[in-house]
Amino acid sequence: VALSVGVVAVFAVTWSGVYNVAASSGHWPFVEAFLRFGMRQSVELRAMAVTAPRLDDPHLVRLGAAHFEIGCAFCHGSPAESASPVTDMMLPAPPSLSGSARVWKDEELFRIVRHGIKYTGMPGWVAIERPDEVWSLIAFLKRLPDLDAAAYRELAFDRSKVPAEAGERPQDAATTKVNVELCGRCHGVADTRPKSTLVPLLHGQPKEFLVSALRNYRSGQRRSGIMKPVAAQLDDQEIERLADYYAGLAVLPAEERKGRNELIARGRDIARYGKPSVGVPPCIACHGRDALASYPRLSGQNAAYMTGQLRLWRDGHNDATPGAAVMAPIARQLSDQDIEAAVTYFASSDARKGQ
Ligand code: HEC
Ligand code: HEC
Ligand code: HEC
Repeated sequence: VALSVGVVAVFAVTWSGVYNVAASSGHWPFVEAFLRFGMRQSVELRAMAVTAPRLDDPHLVRLGAAHFEIGCAFCHGSPAESASPVTDMMLPAPPSLSGSARVWKDEELFRIVRHGIKYTGMPGWVAIERPDEVWSLIAFLKRLPDLDAAAYRELAFDRSKVPAEAGERPQDAATTKVNVELCGRCHGVADTRPKSTLVPLLHGQPKEFLVSALRNYRSGQRRSGIMKPVAAQLDDQEIERLADYYAGLAVLPAEERKGRNELIARGRDIARYGKPSVGVPPCIACHGRDALASYPRLSGQNAAYMTGQLRLWRDGHNDATPGAAVMAPIARQLSDQDIEAAVTYFASSDARKGQ
């Protein structure tokens, strides 16, 4: 009886509308403390099941910084700019994150950024099946306390300016430039490679491949919490123009890999002959110079990026794209050593000449 009376009373209060849901009215201090306590307990408990990888790789930090500027700074502010005044009126208002890495453990930050926080406006990661991307944000949050405005800009933005005339049809220059400036922060422009080796080089990729990749990110078939928010802003025409731009750029020489000849030779074998014993076809059949324009080229591509993609497929990640349906079963036949050899070969300048 007591239970039923309780349920009816709660319903009656809710139905009457006396509880004020206005964000402007704030919480009573004890309610706020209680909510915070509940949130902390919940995050701590679930973070026990998480193990952080190494987070001191500067390439991870740079990728995290570039995304932070696009996906987080308008709510949380950054060393370069304060948050949008609109978000001050949220309840709770998004806090500055400069102290968060001291208050929370890495695994706890990961839980918060991947899953978000109910009833607060803190969103979960756009592609929940990509924990590897979330770690780049945690690597960045750990660096954040040491960053002043200049150091932050250096990490999050592109150093070079975009030349207005590069690869563009004149009538498109204005709109394309804006977007190339955005893309260039991560992918580089005419004369710069991506600033993080975890970001793919787009220079000289077939236009058809670039267009379909951008459409797949936009529709969510290819899952990335970093690329989806970017691609969602693009209409078909902009996608065409940006693809034209990057397809027209010369492949920039790779900076990496000297003196690893044995590994490169092994990678060359896999690239040219595949692994016939387990039915893996030669990589260059689909990735060489003369392969289909809907397939990506690998020569000069960043080794760390390629390793990441191959491991995702191998560990069971499936994008809903026709390309992934072709590539995932191949990746599942590759050992760690095969992957290292193949990507070292493709990343090396040797591959560019030899294909
Ligand atoms: C729409 C606004 C919004 C966006 C965008 C947003 N957040 Fe938040 N975030 C919040 C709010 C609001 C809270 C406060 C939650 C609370 O107090 O329980 C929060 C809390 C957090 C916290 C916990 C902070 C602490 O010290 O308690 C972290 C860490 C965090 N956000 C990281 C991020 C990252 C990284 C991104 C970008 C990927 C991001 N947030 C994007 C609104 C946002
Ligand atoms: C915050 C960094 C960032 C920005 C800004 C960004 N990208 Fe990306 N881009 C990435 C990352 C990281 C990936 C790899 C995502 C994945 O794992 O699938 C990627 C992947 C891509 C791919 C697929 C390439 C391949 O080889 O598979 C294309 C095409 C692309 N981006 C185009 C663009 C364009 C065009 C813009 C500008 C409108 C842009 N990106 C802006 C980080 C970024
Ligand atoms: C039968 C054709 C085929 C073969 C053979 C093949 N691939 Fe792929 N590969 C693809 C397709 C298609 C994609 C694009 C997947 C997508 O759209 O997401 C791809 C993507 C990739 C990517 C990601 C590139 C990027 O820019 O995003 C890597 C790395 C890769 N393959 C490595 C290899 C290696 C190493 C081999 C040889 C062991 C190989 N592939 C053999 C078809 C193939």
